[in-house]
Amino acid sequence: MEEFVVTPWEVHGAIDYFELVERFGTQLIDDELSKRLKKYIGDHQMLRRNIFYSHRDLNWILDKYEKGEKFVLYTGRGPSSNTHLGHLMPWFFTKDLQEAFDVKLYFQMTDDEKFLFNNELKLDDTRNLSYENALDIIALGFAPKRTKIFLDTEYANVLYKIAVEVAKRVTFSTAKAVFGFTNSTNIGSIFFTSMQSAPAFLESVLEKKNVPCLIPCAIDQDAHFRVCRDVAPILGYYKPAVVHCKLFPSLAGSDKMSASLPQTSIFTTDAPKTARKKVMNAFTGGAVSVKEQKEKGGNPDICSIYQYEYYLFEKDDDKMKELREKCKRGELMCGEHKQILADKIEKFLTAHQEKREKARDKIEDYMLRD
Ligand code: TYM
Repeated sequence: MEEFVVTPWEVHGAIDYFELVERFGTQLIDDELSKRLKKYIGDHQMLRRNIFYSHRDLNWILDKYEKGEKFVLYTGRGPSSNTHLGHLMPWFFTKDLQEAFDVKLYFQMTDDEKFLFNNELKLDDTRNLSYENALDIIALGFAPKRTKIFLDTEYANVLYKIAVEVAKRVTFSTAKAVFGFTNSTNIGSIFFTSMQSAPAFLESVLEKKNVPCLIPCAIDQDAHFRVCRDVAPILGYYKPAVVHCKLFPSLAGSDKMSASLPQTSIFTTDAPKTARKKVMNAFTGGAVSVKEQKEKGGNPDICSIYQYEYYLFEKDDDKMKELREKCKRGELMCGEHKQILADKIEKFLTAHQEKREKARDKIEDYMLRD
């Protein structure tokens, strides 16, 4: 089988999520931990379906919380395009965590990262995209009192001081080994991981005492936090805890949803009709002909339509089971299932885009700047 790759900048191949846990040295969220989280966050779809499935030190952060030491949440976005549905997955979960634990959230926009790693984008572009992406975050309903969003270039006075403390403790050979940099990588990119580490210590710096930090993200970002966690004790901070989700697939049925493949990604800014068209062209697990599919059934395990229902759009487990069975028995044809999903996505986008427009007036309530 083709070797799969998962790094912060590249994801491809058929991902074996169990193997990733081994490769990265993280822990699976087992039944016991799932039960422990359930006390706070309820019977959450993303835990029940193993979408958030891996972690670092989640038990530790819950121990601290239960002893009265509150943590902060930290997550982020690399603003290289409009937001797509895949990005929303960790943000939905982050919002539910924020409400369940009643904690602050720091949201980093790495406008520097997307400038440094992308030859097409200027700093002005990544700045503008940061503000566009911030509308999506606000539209999800994060509470302004507890949620602060910042751009690396606009909050540099605070972040840079933390980042240089980190950078001083990370050698080029570590950066090369973790991220695969070479001698021709620009030096901004080599430094960048220190900027992504900095917010993990932000609350501790601002409060002048050690504050635990929990980072929800997809597993592609883990490399940054491996570096961050190695440096934390040297600087006298707690290691940040991390909780990882799987990657929402593209409409082509494999790889992750990625902004660089717009035809197989659904953006929150897509006109609902455009999104419908993309869904109608999606890869499915259907047979070559309707006749054959009626006889032999479809394969939901490789079908992007089925995956979209599972990851985001069908909340009801019984209905999910029914979709699966009907697909396998050849009772639910791909065209029909595409229509069902397209209806749900259109409905979601229409509502989201309304909230997104309203968010334009609220942006200043969230921004943190020097
Ligand atoms: P970025 O912009 O690539 O992704 C933003 C968040 O979405 C997750 N993600 C996905 N989740 C599910 N399915 C997908 N197809 C998918 N694609 C991306 C990412 O894991 C991330 O959680 N360097 C970061 C920005 C960042 C950050 C952070 C992310 C800065 N600080 C702290 C997480 C936590 C980036 O470019 O993310």
